[in-house]
Amino acid sequence: MSEPRKILVTSALPYANGSIHLGHMLEYIQTDMWVRFQKHRGNQCIYVCADDAHGSAIMLRAEKEGITPEQLIANVKAEHSADFADFLVDFDNFHSTHSDENRELSSMIYTRLRDAGHIATRSITQYFDPEKQMFLADRFIKGTCPKCGTEDQYGDNCEKCGATYAPTDLKNPKSAISGATPVLKESQHFFFKLPDFDAMLKSWTRSGTLQEAVANKIAEWLDAGLQQWDISRDAPYFGFEIPGEPGKYFYVWLDAPIGYMASFKNLCARRPDLDFDAYWAKDSTAELYHFIGKDIVNFHALFWPAMLEGAGFRKPTGINVHGYLTVNGQKMSKSRGTFIKARTYLDNLPPEYLRYYYAAKLSRGVDDLDLNLEDFVQKVNSDLIGKVVNIASRCAGFIHKGNAGVLVAGNAAPELTDAFLVAAPGIAEAYEARDFARAMREIMGLADRANAYIADKAPWSLAKQEGKQDEVQAVCALGINLFRQLVIFLKPVLPLLAADAENFLNVAPLTWDDHLTLLSDHRLNPFLPLMTRIDPVKVQAMSDASKEDLTASDTSAAPQGNGELLKEPLAAEIDFDAFAAVDLRVALILKAEHVDGADKLLRLTLDIGDEQRNVFSGIKSAYPNPAELEGRLTMMIANLKPRKMRFGISEGMVMAAGPGGEEIYLLSPDSGAKPGQRIK
Ligand code: MSP
Ligand code: ZN
Repeated sequence: MSEPRKILVTSALPYANGSIHLGHMLEYIQTDMWVRFQKHRGNQCIYVCADDAHGSAIMLRAEKEGITPEQLIANVKAEHSADFADFLVDFDNFHSTHSDENRELSSMIYTRLRDAGHIATRSITQYFDPEKQMFLADRFIKGTCPKCGTEDQYGDNCEKCGATYAPTDLKNPKSAISGATPVLKESQHFFFKLPDFDAMLKSWTRSGTLQEAVANKIAEWLDAGLQQWDISRDAPYFGFEIPGEPGKYFYVWLDAPIGYMASFKNLCARRPDLDFDAYWAKDSTAELYHFIGKDIVNFHALFWPAMLEGAGFRKPTGINVHGYLTVNGQKMSKSRGTFIKARTYLDNLPPEYLRYYYAAKLSRGVDDLDLNLEDFVQKVNSDLIGKVVNIASRCAGFIHKGNAGVLVAGNAAPELTDAFLVAAPGIAEAYEARDFARAMREIMGLADRANAYIADKAPWSLAKQEGKQDEVQAVCALGINLFRQLVIFLKPVLPLLAADAENFLNVAPLTWDDHLTLLSDHRLNPFLPLMTRIDPVKVQAMSDASKEDLTASDTSAAPQGNGELLKEPLAAEIDFDAFAAVDLRVALILKAEHVDGADKLLRLTLDIGDEQRNVFSGIKSAYPNPAELEGRLTMMIANLKPRKMRFGISEGMVMAAGPGGEEIYLLSPDSGAKPGQRIK
């Protein structure tokens, strides 16, 4: 046997300003499956992650919620940790970039880069919000596109005509934070001299560290010439102050990847068997892999290796890039109910079904992956329940009834067990190469053979025949053994199924090498159903609940990223006819009550003069005592097409303002207005 490998693995650090959704989960699930595979094979594999807690978006959101950034990131960390744990993502450590370890390492790396001459300073001119007294990132400036004249465009590009430009090119610029007209102001910035690392990057990116498509993309950037990278931001900013430079902070993307090291360092303090330098020193022989999405390649394949090189650390062994998740063939969309949060999925479905579906569709490329909800139901039911679990449930009864739960010795079909043995190295290779789809195809191919064997022997008919009891036992003992092999192969994807199967099989936790042996003359525990079919109703409920998240105007589902816009942009202009088509009415709230099973909705019974309406409204977070609304006037859209929801039909919408949470303000007319009057 060769020496166990030492492997350190990371997933990208999720921003601490929003909820985890199924797109994120594509990354964390795939990384977790790869890590579990390595551990299953007996390698030392450590998986660390953290919340990415710095930046202006987090600072501004905390301000808006009236809490400190520290409180905000603590709340989000608790939420993220629970989501990951419930999806069976088994981090060895989940830390935060706002930590002592990260502050120390970031200072150290910066100081080393500075002392080696890789930091430049110069003054730059940028828009400044005179009301808010802060510099504005491009995404916090809106104005009229200089090319096509479309209003309300961001400071870096136009959504209408696709033009890219500098924020200073915008006509009529406005701060998206305060609405004030920004002024130009100069300040000193710090730059990382990326061009110093041009030669290193040209060879490193071509040395097998990147998938080919990624290496090609990077080559285009390298050929175009590298630029110095602006790594400082002026106060106010939520982050780390630059050593010796009061009022200057590290840009969030400077300390974010250092968060990988910091999380590992934090783990080392608890795990005396782990040595920080063995993984990070220049001469480290450990392997280091970063799993990331295709949107953040430049940070990981250019800036990060250059920072590591410049500060005297080792560089990654590989950057594993994946594509984006689409749902039903399209970008995730809140209005279609396909912007599905991790928690909304978990409220409706078991985690392993999604893990399996992702595994079945993930190969090592950077293509986008589609979660087709119908295909999801069909594939999980046919593969996991129809093929894998079915083998055990067909065989277990005969063994318990006919042989007191004991598997007889012997091998009823050596050609079949040989086929499983022969297939194992290919399955392992596919996992190693992150070609999970190939691994799943091969495993399901074996499951098909096992099922065909059992169908052919038909123990249920044999059991009814005289003198065939030994054959029934031999066939079923083999069936259970083949099931055990499949569980061994699937364990990185389906850890809970594996644990339940280990319990039923009455064996210690299975490792990869256990597939080399068979159980014989071995007593099983009673069989309990291992998995049940997906009821499509649950999938519908998940989509409905995702739409409900939308009506509740939950701020945490707002666009994420450093440039999150806190004000809603104005919608496109409409003509009078479009306005006149909306029938707005004064409505009297007759009844307001909680809805069983809905976290966000209230059920309102409204009087609009001649008729009563039933409306579900996502305002519960602001009105926890709905009775207080009864007797109050509000405004409703009375001619909105009725919508079927999980809890009944909603016949219109009431009108409210505010960002969400406790800050939802139901609108009311002045006193004197009568229910049913049209609002014009
Ligand atoms: N905070 C940065 C990463 C810093 S790493 C030092 C960030 N955070 S993120 O929350 O926006 O994204 C985290 C990871 O999830 C990224 O790798 C990103 O590509 C991935 N995904 C986010 N949305 C995704 C999909 N819809 N589909 C697949 N992956 C997606 O980027
Ligand atoms: Zn334009």
